Order: sequence, then C-alpha cells, then structure tokens
Amino acid sequence: MLCCVLASSGLPSHHAPNFLHCVGHLNGGSFRGMTGALRSLVEELEQDRSLDEPDRLCRRVEALDRLEAYLIGGNESNGAGIHHRARALYTRLEAANSELFRAIRDEIQRGAGPDILLRRHDAGRARGEGYDYLDELIIGVLQFGEPGAGVVPLGAEMVFYQPTPARHIFDLIGRTALTERDVLVDLGSGLGHVPLLASICTSARTIGIELESAYIDCARQSAQGLNLNNVTFLQQDARTADLSVGTVFYLYTPFIGTILRAVLDSLRREAASREIRICTFGPCTPTIAEEQWLEAIGASDADRIAVFCSRN
Ligand SMILES: C[S@@+](CC[C@H](N)C(=O)[O-])C[C@H]1O[C@@H](n2cnc3c(N)ncnc32)[C@H](O)[C@@H]1O
Repeated sequence: MLCCVLASSGLPSHHAPNFLHCVGHLNGGSFRGMTGALRSLVEELEQDRSLDEPDRLCRRVEALDRLEAYLIGGNESNGAGIHHRARALYTRLEAANSELFRAIRDEIQRGAGPDILLRRHDAGRARGEGYDYLDELIIGVLQFGEPGAGVVPLGAEMVFYQPTPARHIFDLIGRTALTERDVLVDLGSGLGHVPLLASICTSARTIGIELESAYIDCARQSAQGLNLNNVTFLQQDARTADLSVGTVFYLYTPFIGTILRAVLDSLRREAASREIRICTFGPCTPTIAEEQWLEAIGASDADRIAVFCSRN
C-alpha cells in the first residue's frame, strides 16, 4: 500500500525493485516456504472479521502491506490456490477502504466539521519521515487525478515534489490552531495536501502557490470534487507571489539557496507591518531557524514541523 502512496504522489516506489531482487534469488525450497507463510497469513487474516469494520483502516493497511509482500512478483505456479485466496482477500480489504473513503468524501461534500479527519490522528505520532496509513486515508479522500505528462523539470535550487506525510500536516493544523482570521499559504504546494487538509479541518482560508501547472490542475480538481470553497491554488513562482494576505506560511523545503533567500526576504518585509508565523519541515528548517527576525515557538525537533513567529 505504501507503494500506492508513492505512486499516487508522483513518486517512484522503492519497495518493488528490492522485493523482486530478493525473489529472483529464491530457490524452489524457499518458494515452498513462502507459500506456507502466505497460507498462514491468509488464514490469520480471513479469520479476523474486525478487518471489515470501516474504521479499522490502520489494521487493514498493515494487512494489505503484508499481503502485498507476497503478491508482488510472487511465483504463482507454486500454490496457485492460496494466491487466489490472497488476491480475493486483498480485493475485499481494498473495497472496505474505498467504502470508508467514499463515506468520508460524502460527509466533506456536505460540509462536515473538522473532526471528520482530525479524530483519526494521534497527536503523539507526528515524528520522522516516511508514510503511513494516514497517507492512504488522505489519498483516498482527496482523490487526485494523475498530473499527466506535462510536468516540467524544475530549475536549479528548486526541490522536486514530495508530499508532507499526513501525520505532520495534522500536527501543523493542531499546533497553529488556525482560526477564520488566518490565511495559510503553502509555498510550493505540490498537489495541495496541506491547503486541502487545512481547509477541511479548520475555518481558515488556505492558498497553495505552486510553479507546476499540472499539480495546480490536480489540486483544483480535488478541491472542486469535495466542494471546498475556502481554498485557492495559484500557479506562480513563490519569489514573485503576493504574500500580503498570508498570516501563516508553510515551507516543506520547496527550494534552497538564493531562491530560499529571496522568499525569506519577502516574508521579512511582510513581517515588518504585521505578525506572521512560518512553519517549516525538512532541511530548510535549520536555515530558517537562523533568521534573527523569527522566534521559534516550542522546542526544536528535527523530526517534526517547526513553528516560528515574527518578532515585533
Ligand atoms: C517538497 S515539495 C512540497 C509539497 C507540498 N508543500 C507538501 O508539503 O505536500 C516542493 C514543491 O515546491 C515546488 N516548487 C519548487 N520551486 C518553486 C518555486 N520557485 N515556486 C513555487 N513552487 C516551487 C515544487 O514543484 C514542489 O511541488
């Protein structure tokens, strides 16, 4: 399933090639061992009816991951019957996920409150890199189309697209306590996970600024499909964007070097006339932490989104 998270995010999967490499070196005995292990797994999962309960997403994603390890590139001539059962189980669990995502989308389209997504997040878990079941949830709910072939290579000092893991977005939403007076601006918003989630989970206005027009199209379609009207996506270079409406800015290391410097200078000019907050994630955080006009809010933790407030 994590392969799916990456594929749907326009990122390469690192799981499959390693696994195929392993499979290629297995001898007949190992294949029989794998078939036996798959049989035990299928029997265990078939008996666990709790996996069909809509809210058991975390356990289902874990079960799908375990099944996937056997089904990707597995040799089906050994134990075709058990592979067939494993595939049927896989399809059943995926259908349960799709049903959950459809139900949540329905509620959001009808204007559900923030709790529809926030209650699925455990605030203590927002640490580290990597994706988890919350990313499956977000991809299932936001339903991005494929960006298409139009993605243009980025210039020097610009960082390729990678979405912020969902648990960190929920962490950002919780720690910034955005209100209807806030405007959250994601600088380099990619497919729009951050503005879209913040628009579902808060009363703030949200804006995504992104250079790549194919990502902007996907983000707008996602917002439209969910009837979200407090989120806007603008195809712009962050260096020339109008930052005057933002109260909270987010940067998941979208650029480095002179581009980051230029955008920080723009933000500093904004901060001269009003208080702003800046949230950062990834390698840009230590650079931004050195800005004298910013003060960190809370303890610094390299594994987590950092929040800064402008000094007045
Ligand atoms: C690491 S991704 C972050 C995506 C998104 N903020 C998130 O957290 O899910 C960086 C994004 O910044 C965009 N980007 C890079 N340089 C940019 C620039 N000068 N202006 C606007 N967007 C830019 C890239 O196209 C990419 O989508």
